[in-house]
Order: sequence, then C-alpha cells, then structure tokens
Amino acid sequence: MPLVTTTEMFKKAYDGGYAIGAFNVNNMEIVQGITEAAREVNAPLILQVSKGARAYANHTYLVKLVEAAVIECPNIPIALHLDHGPDFETCKSCIDGGFTSVMIDASSKPFEENIEITKKVVEYAHDHGVVVEAELGTLAGIEDEVKVAAHAASYTRPEEVEEFVSKTGCDSLAIAIGTSHGAYKFTADQCTRNEKGILVPPPLRFDVLEEVSKRLPGFPIVLHGSSSVPQNYVKMINDNGGKMPDAVGIPEEQLRKAASMAVCKINIDSDLRLAMTGTIRQFFNEHPDKFDPREYLKPARANIKELVKHKIIDVLGCDNKA
Ligand code: G3H
Ligand code: 13P
Ligand code: ZN
Repeated sequence: MPLVTTTEMFKKAYDGGYAIGAFNVNNMEIVQGITEAAREVNAPLILQVSKGARAYANHTYLVKLVEAAVIECPNIPIALHLDHGPDFETCKSCIDGGFTSVMIDASSKPFEENIEITKKVVEYAHDHGVVVEAELGTLAGIEDEVKVAAHAASYTRPEEVEEFVSKTGCDSLAIAIGTSHGAYKFTADQCTRNEKGILVPPPLRFDVLEEVSKRLPGFPIVLHGSSSVPQNYVKMINDNGGKMPDAVGIPEEQLRKAASMAVCKINIDSDLRLAMTGTIRQFFNEHPDKFDPREYLKPARANIKELVKHKIIDVLGCDNKA
C-alpha cells in the first residue's frame, strides 16, 4: 500500500487503547531496522524526519529510503511525518515533497501566535491531503539544536486545549506532561535513586493527560521525548569508552499506561541512537582491526530492530494492528 496519513491509524489506536510508534530516521540502516521490526510484528508505523535529519541526509534521500521501505513492507501502513517543523516554509516543503503528515511546532511562541502559525499550516496541509500535529506546552531537553532547561519547561494547560484545537483545526496535539527530549531527561536533583544507584525520574502528570482527554474526547494526543534510555545500552556505551553518566529516560510502564489512554503517537529517537552507538562502540572495542562499515552497521541495525520490536509489543501495544 502507498504511504498513508495517520488518520485511520490514530482512530484505531484511540479505540483500541494502544499507540503508534513514531521513530526518527536519519539513514538507511535506521530505516531498515525499524521497518523490518514493524513488518515482522505486523504493526502500523510512523517514520519521522526532523529538520536536522533533512540537513544531514537530504530530503530526497530520506523520502526515497522511506519509499523503498514501503515497497519492502507492502502489508503495513506507514506514514511519513515531519518532526518539529519549525515554520510554515519547512512544512510546505515537506507537504509538497511527499510527506503525509507534518508537525508545526510553534510551542515556544505565545498562545495566539502558536494558533496563527498552526492554522496557516493546517489550511495548506489539508488542501493537499496531509495531516498536522501541533504542540501546546514546552518539553525540557534538546530538540533540533534548541536546548530547553528543565526549569523553563512548562506543562500543557488543559484549559487552553479546546480553543487551540478548534481555532487551528489541527489533527493531533502534542502535550507536555513531564517527558523530555534526549538521553539526559532529568537532572539528578529532580530524581530519586533506586537501590542500584540508577536515577528514577518524577512520574508523568497523568492528571494533565486525563483532563486534556476529557476536554477533547476522541482526539489523538502525542507524546514527545518518550525514550526510556535503556540502561543496558548506556552501560554498553560506558563499558566501551563512552561517558554518559546519569542518562535516564521515561519508565516503559508509564508509556504503556499513556498508550492505553488518549495517547495515540509516541515519539522515540534517543533509544535508537543509544542502541546504534553502543553496538558500534562495542564492535570497535572487540575488533580494533576491522574497518568495513557493513560489519559494524549490521549488528547496529539488528539491535535497532530488536529494540523496536520490544517497543511495539511491550510498550506501544500495536503489534498485529496493521
Ligand atoms: O525531538 C527531536 C528528535 O529527537 C530529532 O532530533 O533534531 O537531532 O534530529 P534531531
Ligand atoms: P526522545 O529524545 O526521548 O527519543 O524523543 C524523541 C522525540 O520526541 C522526537 O520528536
Ligand atoms: Zn520531539
């Protein structure tokens, strides 16, 4: 089947109490690892591309890689989504260039300005059969070179969501309930430590999610910054020459709970980066004489695939939902 929008997948996810995984893609091995996992467990999929990914790999290469994945996976629905579109022009370029979904992220702007920019993108996108994700509230962490300090992050205000959605016409809404971008999501003083000395982050604000979904019944909610920062990969990196102290993510049980509620799309990027980097670091440590990229990218791709399968089955719950 050709690339699809997220409309149908979100409707089924909302009704079925699961979420669709939105995984960031930057090169062929990442596309292959993710799509082979989704194909094997028969899961709908969102492949997303950031401004940074377009700058790194080039729009056309990424679109063609995703088109190749669509050919290789004819039985699962795949959407191609712009992640954190910074402005109308970037969204337009992706809408004109084959994407089926875009995010306009004007969440750093004042409320009225966010509405104005989002509405403009929605009008253009809907005229071209493309759906739009918008954002209200500010996540902490690093996204597209912008670092938002934990103290500058702000939860979504539920009392604003109805006006925002009705005035913009957006198709889904990313909200801030305590997730955060990157591998260092929380400072040590925001967390407690468990018996192994690992940081335990503050719980997500499910009260905010509940209030938002009460005000927007049936409307798909999106969670960004939802990597769990698997400690086995942090250890693999640190054991093989890396230095990532206190990298901590969102506990998977909390994401599973969000997926059973109004959350229909869960964004995961950092976890794939950790799997790839850990695998490659270990490979070089064990084989200092090797220099063929295929030899170290192959196990990296295989570990991305295993990780995505685990997310689909144990966290998102969207296996066998294609
Ligand atoms: O939220 C941001 C995504 O993880 C994309 O990251 O801007 O480094 O491509 P990037
Ligand atoms: P992570 O950094 O937690 O993987 O979040 C990715 C994301 O939100 C992409 O938009
Ligand atoms: Zn994000």
